[in-house]
Amino acid sequence: MTTRLSANEIERAAAILRSGGTVAFPTETVYGLGANCLDPTAVAKIFIAKGRPADNPLIVHVADVDMVSCVAEVIPSVAQQLMEHYWPGPLTLVLGKLASVSDEVTAGLATVAVRMPNHRVALELIREANLPLAAPSANLSGRPSATSWQSVLEDLDGRIDAVICDEQCQIGIESTVLDLSGSQPIILRHGAITLEDFHEAGFKDVAIWNSNVDIDSAMLNSPGLRHRHYQPQASVVVIDLNEHGTSKWYDDLRSNGNRIAWIGLQRQPDDLLLQTQVVFDSIEEYSANLYETFRKMDHASIEVIVCEAVPQVGLGRALMDRLQRASVPRL
Ligand code: TXA
Ligand code: MG
Repeated sequence: MTTRLSANEIERAAAILRSGGTVAFPTETVYGLGANCLDPTAVAKIFIAKGRPADNPLIVHVADVDMVSCVAEVIPSVAQQLMEHYWPGPLTLVLGKLASVSDEVTAGLATVAVRMPNHRVALELIREANLPLAAPSANLSGRPSATSWQSVLEDLDGRIDAVICDEQCQIGIESTVLDLSGSQPIILRHGAITLEDFHEAGFKDVAIWNSNVDIDSAMLNSPGLRHRHYQPQASVVVIDLNEHGTSKWYDDLRSNGNRIAWIGLQRQPDDLLLQTQVVFDSIEEYSANLYETFRKMDHASIEVIVCEAVPQVGLGRALMDRLQRASVPRL
């Protein structure tokens, strides 16, 4: 049985973590599934609960900058500056790890990923447990991340010790992952802190990892890139309305007799006979509700979710990354 806890029961949640258990908790991005990052047996429970491949490392969640030294060997000055500027917030930094951090957490890499979430409940939990928490997104591996406690339970009820039932996550997509272990800061995963944000804040040498050029080394550096992600039961198709006329994609999909839903920024003509349309006012709103919408579409037995492509700038890069991964054909 998974215990449902309220946001006022932080002490109970912390006690479960201190005794080696697993607790799902809210953050500003997505719900995390936490365990004591210094206890390999506790960390192993995360992998079992999620069905997560052992070669995909976890992010260590801290409540302050001092806690980073429990897991990282050196904190370069650029890391200090980034922490001062963006923490607490949706930025994960990849740093050289201390030898004492177990391979369960880092999947055998020489680096460790750390972040300080910008969420009262998450921070209180880490402080109360007085432990850095290893925490991936609280979903079954491969599924859309959970941004509500109901979605956590949909995937993990009975598989984890407890969940803290709080509000839906505000940002709705996972943190930006920035690799600081090389000579130049490289964005490994796009998130709400964008390339443009870094540049405007004076972190001018931040660059994007280029998947086309160096796929092998990137796979090595960020094993998370190699696994399937964010996929609902329905097939996801991404359509750029500037390239494809509405009727073109519709006719192609409809001829297979599919139950089709549309999600995007622009409403589609009513005569398309879509099962449902979900139209958002902004890229922020689209991102914040993407995973919950995917799950709702599955509940409604939708077979194809057609998602409107957005321009690949700012937060649009992160949203497009998730849409494209969700749309990868299953092997
Ligand atoms: O917003 C978030 O980051 C959420 C919340 C719960 O904090 N967490 C999250 O964790 O998205 P997860 O496990 O779903 O994704 C972690 C990502 C993966 O792509 C993983 O490969 C990468 O971070 N990662 C972890 N440790 C790494 C390391 N040492 N080097 C490179 N990438 C790493
Ligand atoms: Mg995840």
